[in-house]
Amino acid sequence: MSENHIGQPHARIDGRAKVTGNARYAADFNQPGQAYAVIVGASIGLGRVLEVDDEAARQLPGVLAVLTHVNAPKLAYAPHKGFIDPAHGERLHVLQDDRVQFYGQPVALVVAETLDQAEHAAGLLRIRYAAEAPVSDPLDKRAEAVVPEAGREPGPRSADRVRGDPEAALAAAAIRIDAGYDAARENHVPIEPNATIAAWSGDRLTLWSKSQFVVNEQAEIAAILGIPAEHVHVICPFIGGAFGTSLRTWPHVTLAAVAAREVGRPVKLVLSRRQTFHLAGHRPRTLQRVALSATPDGKLTGILHEGTGETSRYEQFVEALTSVTPFLYGCPNVRTSYRLAPLDISTPTYMRGPGEATGVFALECAMDELAYALEMDPLELRRRNEPRMDEGLQLPFSSRSMLACYERGASAFGWSRRTHAPGSMRDGRMRIGWGMACATYPAFHGEASARVRLLPDGTAEVEAAASDMGPGTYTSITQIAAETLGLPMSGVRFRLGQSDFPPTPPHGGSMTLASVGSAVRSACLAARDQLEARAGRIDGSIEASATASPDAEARQRFSMHAFGAVFVEVAIDPDVGTIRVRRVVGAYGAGRIVNPRLAASQCTGGMVGGIGMALMERTALDPRDGRPVNSHMADYLLPVNLDIGTLEPHFVDEVDPHVNQLGVKGLGEIALVGVAPAVANAVFHATGKRIRELPIRIEHLIEH
Ligand code: MOS
Repeated sequence: MSENHIGQPHARIDGRAKVTGNARYAADFNQPGQAYAVIVGASIGLGRVLEVDDEAARQLPGVLAVLTHVNAPKLAYAPHKGFIDPAHGERLHVLQDDRVQFYGQPVALVVAETLDQAEHAAGLLRIRYAAEAPVSDPLDKRAEAVVPEAGREPGPRSADRVRGDPEAALAAAAIRIDAGYDAARENHVPIEPNATIAAWSGDRLTLWSKSQFVVNEQAEIAAILGIPAEHVHVICPFIGGAFGTSLRTWPHVTLAAVAAREVGRPVKLVLSRRQTFHLAGHRPRTLQRVALSATPDGKLTGILHEGTGETSRYEQFVEALTSVTPFLYGCPNVRTSYRLAPLDISTPTYMRGPGEATGVFALECAMDELAYALEMDPLELRRRNEPRMDEGLQLPFSSRSMLACYERGASAFGWSRRTHAPGSMRDGRMRIGWGMACATYPAFHGEASARVRLLPDGTAEVEAAASDMGPGTYTSITQIAAETLGLPMSGVRFRLGQSDFPPTPPHGGSMTLASVGSAVRSACLAARDQLEARAGRIDGSIEASATASPDAEARQRFSMHAFGAVFVEVAIDPDVGTIRVRRVVGAYGAGRIVNPRLAASQCTGGMVGGIGMALMERTALDPRDGRPVNSHMADYLLPVNLDIGTLEPHFVDEVDPHVNQLGVKGLGEIALVGVAPAVANAVFHATGKRIRELPIRIEHLIEH
């Protein structure tokens, strides 16, 4: 009766619900008697609110409340740091005082019978400020870099790491490069904006809220409001893309809950597209320097990688900007350092491939520069520096299929037909460029729990608090449960996205399948044991729960990462400087692939994100007030179908017995990592122009 589901290309089991509009997202859970809230954001970038004149707004029909720091309830804000909150600093306390710390910070909330009335009233508020001059650019002379508090401890997340003597190696080397890189601030821009509907029933609060981490949203809102966590229930069955923007619980969730309590009715609060650009995190802008030295035959002798990321003044957001550098290649002398530039902006957050995407951009562009300094094929340079172990941690890799990825990717792409000289490949009048880069991302695993019920009709129900922002979690977890229980896919009903389901780690960091999948497998095995103990008879239902934890011992003994190689072809029109990515081939060693169809879909999505990072995405701030000026979908450029050519993910066979019981490493992040440097390197190959700034734009390529 056992069926093999793991490894099968099952279609998404929620696909029909999504395309027919039956999938319900946070803002779809309209409640009887619901009112609407609109956030009014500060129109200055720094300073104080002197006065909010709400007279005209209050006289409009339908207006139920206008909350400002003057009349909003004082909230408990009990200490709470979720797994995904910055370790250093304190979250924004919304409407608790008159300070304005960034452009668009909520300074008032209008609640009305209808959305139109709330928006109209919001526009009638007259707010006077005492404005100061904000610093919103890390290159501003007033910006000062600091050592991140969270990076002071020793270990992989420390700010500074060194082995050998890289300065001496660089000074002694005949061949070296030294370059600076600037990667733009980006926003996540998912289709679904951040949204919450809040409803109180007595002292109990229900939140239908877009969240990648419902158990944390529950804990955090309880801490902010000073109520027991059991009194908060968070529901989020579907997410319309997130990429990190809904990992943290941002202030609009608090505002929805407060407003609902104030007006005694359910309240819906949906961020406008503009508001999502400054109220829900962003990928921080980063400035980096990479210096490399090598022997004439291409062996790395020294690596220096310095990176600075922007953060807010009230929290230190840290990411893995330079953490890949100590282990991606073999090299005896390596120094990495990581700094933060606190600015008058809202706190950045994780965005797909957080840290790795920008750090690998700098390192992999630098490797390409070194290859040209050596007159060596860029892929051959990488082959010659393949390490036998993680030289940073001095540990073996649990598995590393980089050489196989080079092989597979290069052959699928046709890399051997590349001619080395910049500008040497043409297609008619178009300049053709072929570039490549490596990708890597840690194989994270977080403790997760799951519950399984075997019903008398022979089907099973499985529950875990997890989210599914698009990778296909509903489907892949159902595959694992069905296979473990020996049931058809249709015999398993997997439910997720509720804070009263067994807890799971954040739906991020590419760890959902490893973590939730392991918990579900463990729970299914426990249920099977119970069934066998009862000799196969189910009278009443059988229920089993399990918690699966990372193997701490294995994680001490091995360095665990997924690896990949990305190959890109660009075609550049030399007259107008337009760049088109014709082809992307990515080869990944990411452990067991539970569903090759979903995995390929994950990877093509990540490649699109990487093309956006390379060529389009950039949130531009007005230096006068730190306002994101292009905070809407007309001016924040994203790749659309016509921008995308052929995307071709490959998975090399990789069996990793150490990462977790399923042997999966996760794919969400690695699929974006490596794409931007491969594009930048292809642009160099096509034109001979080394662009060290993202996104690469027409003005970088046009001769003046
Ligand atoms: Mo992703 S940045 O781990 O949501």
